[in-house]
Amino acid sequence: MLSPSSVNIELPSMPFILSRIIQITRNPDTSAQDLANAVMIDQSLTSRLLRLANSAYFHRMQEVDTISSAILVLGFGYVRNLAASASVLEAMFPRRVFPGFDWQAMWLHSVTCAIASEEIYSYMSGFDRRKDETVFIAGLLHDIGKLVIACMLPLRFMAVVEGCRKCKEDMITVENNFLSSNHAEVGQYVTEQWGFPEKLVQAIACHHTPECATQYSDLARTVFAADMLAKRISAPCIPDLTANISLRDIAKVVEISPGSMSYIIEHVKQGLERSSEIISWGKNLPNAYGY
Ligand SMILES: [Fe+2]
Ligand SMILES: [Fe+2]
Repeated sequence: MLSPSSVNIELPSMPFILSRIIQITRNPDTSAQDLANAVMIDQSLTSRLLRLANSAYFHRMQEVDTISSAILVLGFGYVRNLAASASVLEAMFPRRVFPGFDWQAMWLHSVTCAIASEEIYSYMSGFDRRKDETVFIAGLLHDIGKLVIACMLPLRFMAVVEGCRKCKEDMITVENNFLSSNHAEVGQYVTEQWGFPEKLVQAIACHHTPECATQYSDLARTVFAADMLAKRISAPCIPDLTANISLRDIAKVVEISPGSMSYIIEHVKQGLERSSEIISWGKNLPNAYGY
């Protein structure tokens, strides 16, 4: 297990807005004003949200000039998801080039997995969206261990990427061989240190091994299936490594009929369209070729 004691790494600190968003999602009594107060601390996030609320997509007749009114226009859940996404992108995604690894694709993968997690979970829970407020964040952060390894142990990360390209193996397999650990374990470690709710820690820890989730196994299976779906419908982070994943296998993980997958994919695509602003935030990240 990679930990500060075994490899002498210093863990990054949790992005401030993310910690507030997680508190907000934990507490059923929080109001739109609590969310607005958390967002307003971050000027660049505030201007992004106002730009988005005033964009053609939302067809407003009147200008939206406060975060509270943006929450009314965009919805509480949407603003919360935007704020979590922005804080993760800004605080956690590396800005340096790792030859052969595409950070733009990684951003798209994370957002796709977050949206797919919501859609799959909602489908599994009979469309009761209030059942779990942390699903989007679990999907968004499922691969946070990769970000931590890339930031804290860049040479090892590059060796893993090179190993994946040479052996045509996925990252988790190569990490286990090269690091005697993997990004799911590192993700578990860092989110435990940050005091994340156990549900999120388990979903991140078990997103490749949902059968190991001792609690909240529905969420772990959801994120596992959403990760597979995201790999199937979006470009790979390592361009030489394409995944061949069947819809039948994805459906089996969450015990839904294979026929339901076309409904879920259609909704994920609509969610991606609605989230084009979030996705565009990643366009300045380095790609696999260094530009
Ligand atoms: Fe992963
Ligand atoms: Fe992933």
